[in-house]
Amino acid sequence: MSRIPVHVAFIMDGNGRWAQVRGLSRHEGHRRGASVIKKILRAAEKSGVKYVTFFAFSSENFSRPESEVKFLMGLCEKFLKKYRKTICEKEIRFRTIGDLSQLPFNLQLAIEKLTQNTAHFDKFHLTMALNYGARSEVIQAIGKLLKSEDVNVENLTWKDFERHLYTKDLPDPDLIIRTSGEQRLSNFLLLQSAYAELYFTKTYWPDFNEKEFLLAIEDYGSRERRMGKINDKTND
Ligand code: IPE
Ligand code: IPE
Ligand code: MG
Repeated sequence: MSRIPVHVAFIMDGNGRWAQVRGLSRHEGHRRGASVIKKILRAAEKSGVKYVTFFAFSSENFSRPESEVKFLMGLCEKFLKKYRKTICEKEIRFRTIGDLSQLPFNLQLAIEKLTQNTAHFDKFHLTMALNYGARSEVIQAIGKLLKSEDVNVENLTWKDFERHLYTKDLPDPDLIIRTSGEQRLSNFLLLQSAYAELYFTKTYWPDFNEKEFLLAIEDYGSRERRMGKINDKTND
């Protein structure tokens, strides 16, 4: 295989519609969606990707009915407890991005525990975006930046700013995959995706699988990432 992205981020969309076309509850769609994460994690590891990030709950998703929000929070907690052992055994570094303070206390505890237990691993990195929104990330980063003592506001650099983002320890995503046919970022990693390649598939997240993941990786390998430069082979 050609070029492999270092960091792949997923906008896991379409759980509700997947359930709706089958006459099932949205809850069932989310349950099936959560079970896909493990398969994709394994496929990503196998393919040589080093960082995967899953958008699991946006800051705007709090506007959904209370019962759905509650169900999603419970599902996250169950997911973390179910895979805690595997994540540790496979030496996967676990992180979250987003504002954890609004999450249920038990979920916060489960996150804290797994984050701490895996903090020394460096082989493969799993990040869950929970109550994440790029705009609030930027606002909180500005707040931290203004409070930091060593900042030179006159000559501010991207590096000065970047270290206050939730993603400070992560490389920028090389590839963002969104399922369900929607072609938007929905407030996900807006600054970090400045030069990310975007891949959209009509498949609903619960049906996303290793084969589709490999198609996305192959497509990424065929793209020319110029990052503002011109192709070396271009004649002038
Ligand atoms: C994605 O599926 C999961 C979350 C946003 C939590 P959706 O719940 O958005 O599914 P659709 O878009 O309604 O089909
Ligand atoms: C984006 O999906 C958030 C997650 C996948 C967690 P949404 O379903 O919330 O996005 P919109 O509302 O269609 O833009
Ligand atoms: Mg959706």
